[in-house]
Amino acid sequence: MLKSNFNPVVVRPCLARATRTTTLPNRRFSSTPESGSSISPSPVDGYTLSSGDTIPSVGLGTWRASGEDVGGAVKAALSAGYRHIDCAWEYGNEEAIGNAIQQSGVRREDLWLTSKLWNASHSPEDVEPALDETLTRLGTSYLDMYLIHWPVAILKEPYLTSGRFVVDKPLSDDMFPTWKKLEELVDKGKIKNVGVCNFTIWRFEQLMKNPLKYRPLVNQVELSYWNPQPNLLAWAKSRKVLLEASSPLGGMRKVKETLELPVFTEVAKLVNITPAQAVLSWLRQRGVVVLPKSTHPDRIKENIQAVTLPQELFEKIERAAVSHPPKRMINPSGKWGFNFDIFGLT
Ligand SMILES: NC(=O)c1ccc[n+]([C@@H]2O[C@H](COP(=O)([O-])OP(=O)(O)OC[C@H]3O[C@@H](n4cnc5c(N)ncnc54)[C@H](OP(=O)(O)O)[C@@H]3O)[C@@H](O)[C@H]2O)c1
Repeated sequence: MLKSNFNPVVVRPCLARATRTTTLPNRRFSSTPESGSSISPSPVDGYTLSSGDTIPSVGLGTWRASGEDVGGAVKAALSAGYRHIDCAWEYGNEEAIGNAIQQSGVRREDLWLTSKLWNASHSPEDVEPALDETLTRLGTSYLDMYLIHWPVAILKEPYLTSGRFVVDKPLSDDMFPTWKKLEELVDKGKIKNVGVCNFTIWRFEQLMKNPLKYRPLVNQVELSYWNPQPNLLAWAKSRKVLLEASSPLGGMRKVKETLELPVFTEVAKLVNITPAQAVLSWLRQRGVVVLPKSTHPDRIKENIQAVTLPQELFEKIERAAVSHPPKRMINPSGKWGFNFDIFGLT
């Protein structure tokens, strides 16, 4: 199903079409808009991976959406045209998401479902049971994308009994045993595509040094106005790795401040969109997937409507984003009791 290792991933904006996305509007998302071109809504497009699968460029984020709220959010998203839901075992809400999908009537083959392998399940014997739990909860027999959630493995115990994080050093230093298990699950048909989250360039390259059968196609990382990571983005493009923007609006603590930034309010006014749409349009125009989280139907609808920004406005936002010191919003290294920075070089 997936092409063999080092087969370049084609990361290009394309129509959301073919088997998974036939119900989506048939519009193209241009990454090189002409200056002054007419602004038209560009709902959901996608990127074609080397597997041949098309991943929609907007997905609904589901972190910190409670089991009670997330079902309504998923239904609102599906009726607004989303066909990509970003899940994780650790979010604890996959069952509610699965129920909502079933009730929505949207066909499984028209949906892109991503989930993530939690840190305590990196031991090769734990990977398949963890995936199976996710599949059962989501009510599906396969995932379109399965990601390693964090580049750190922790011991199952004491995590399962006390929630305490103790680093599994061998499996953190060398993720190949975990990766090999994921490759087996691709061959079994339980996963269509594999990737990682929160990997620095160094960590990604370390993994790639192994004789991989299937290479990671995606790196889901924090990408926002506050932490735009231009170097990581340039590297990803050069390595044909698709980035997915987690916390694209700055996350729940920064979203208000993000949406009040003059650069977004001004661009929004000029092209007659909302500040949230300006943020998400800019990110999509950088060539990445965006995963805005909301449990409010009006915001969910708002967040899927992107436009192709005129080049000068795109560049204005890009300049503003890269010209202040970057600030990472999510770094759990301290909270998890680590004496190292997950995002440090090594
Ligand atoms: N792989 C990883 O380690 C990782 C890490 C972080 C995030 N993620 C993924 O990325 C997703 C998004 O990240 P995030 O949840 O941290 O942050 P986010 O999407 O940047 O921001 C979410 C916050 O913005 C609010 N919001 C959303 N749309 C809005 C709008 N149009 N106007 C005003 N407020 C709006 C939401 O509130 P309401 O819900 O009340 O609308 C929520 O408080 C996550 O849900 C998760 O799926 C992955």
